Amino acid sequence: MPGRQVGPRILEIWTGVACPLNCRFCYRHGKDFERAGDLLEPSGLTDLLREFASGGGEEVYLSGGLEPLTRPHAAARVVGEAKRVGLRVQVYTNGVPPALAAGYLPGVLAREADQVRVSLPAATELTYREVTRPVAATATFARACGTVDRLLKLSKDSGNGARVGVSFLVVERNARELDAAARLWRDRGAAFLNVRVDAEGVLSCGAEVRDAIASLRHEANAGRYRPLEIDFFSGGVLSHAERCIAFHNKVTVDPFGLVFVCCRQAQPGARPDWAQVGDLRVERFGQVIQRLQTVPPLRHCARCTPYESWFNRQAQQGTATHQEPATEEKEVALRSAVWVPGQVNSNKPRVR
Ligand SMILES: C[S@@+](CC[C@H](N)C(=O)[O-])C[C@H]1O[C@@H](n2cnc3c(N)ncnc32)[C@H](O)[C@@H]1O
Ligand code: SF4
Ligand code: SF4
Repeated sequence: MPGRQVGPRILEIWTGVACPLNCRFCYRHGKDFERAGDLLEPSGLTDLLREFASGGGEEVYLSGGLEPLTRPHAAARVVGEAKRVGLRVQVYTNGVPPALAAGYLPGVLAREADQVRVSLPAATELTYREVTRPVAATATFARACGTVDRLLKLSKDSGNGARVGVSFLVVERNARELDAAARLWRDRGAAFLNVRVDAEGVLSCGAEVRDAIASLRHEANAGRYRPLEIDFFSGGVLSHAERCIAFHNKVTVDPFGLVFVCCRQAQPGARPDWAQVGDLRVERFGQVIQRLQTVPPLRHCARCTPYESWFNRQAQQGTATHQEPATEEKEVALRSAVWVPGQVNSNKPRVR
């Protein structure tokens, strides 16, 4: 028996079925989930997290095809239960759901998550509105900033709370505010600023965007934003000759309990049949994971993005495996269990 090949290292869980914003760059392109009802109940989320942890899982991303914190009870259950079973927890939110303005949720996130990242692609209300195109009147830049401040305070007060920071996706319309955002979050005591560009390449990544990022890098190297950590996400896409085993490293479970090979292919408006590899309303997560072990590598999708490619690269480097002390022999056996060179399939996992 070679090393112990268990399930993915990372589980992305989506709890939201609504979003108060309609960001210009968003993967979902304004689309919502087509189906309603039949949500994975909190008890189902608890079972999922327990099985994930006992299968060797390490980390949970609470995020969305939409906004995860529009369902505060489900979100709090995910964070609390994940922590209880020893998983690291990262939360991605736009910071504007009402549940973040008062009540128990900010405290749960600040005390129990390891990291909370608020997506805030602007440094002024006007630009925020232009880029995020709010669909709810309460979804404002001021409210999102208030959330970051609240989480920072609660985290600090708890003594050992979440690392709280901001994500700024740079497009033409907000590029001129990137430096102001870095200064703002430095002065307010955020831990990090995550800088990204449109991974789909749909929106222009022209001179304004490149210059703003170059200038930010320059200023960051000169220490102008310290102690704020500036993190530039710059994964590269895989070549089309490469196969995908990203799902050995990370899978995505949507609010209905459907399991997908990756978050890109689970987005509202995407979701091809082949990308759905399980349904937690009729089977257990452990069964899905067992089945995933036998899925041969997928043909690389034409519209994969650097973000998903990064997980694929990690899976190929073996980070998806939890093995006993390695010997060369075990290593080879282990890799051939998950990576079948030359085995080309029709992009359809053998499921159901
Ligand atoms: C899809 S959102 C879901 C969680 C939450 N609604 C939010 O905005 O943080 C997760 C992250 O994906 C990022 N994102 C959305 N569309 C993107 C794109 N085309 N390229 C790169 N990142 C994108 C968002 O900026 C956000 O930080
Ligand atoms: S807030 Fe998040 S999910 Fe909503 S539109 Fe913006 S990026 Fe997409
Ligand atoms: S190639 Fe990219 S988009 Fe396609 S399944 Fe793999 S990670 Fe997802």
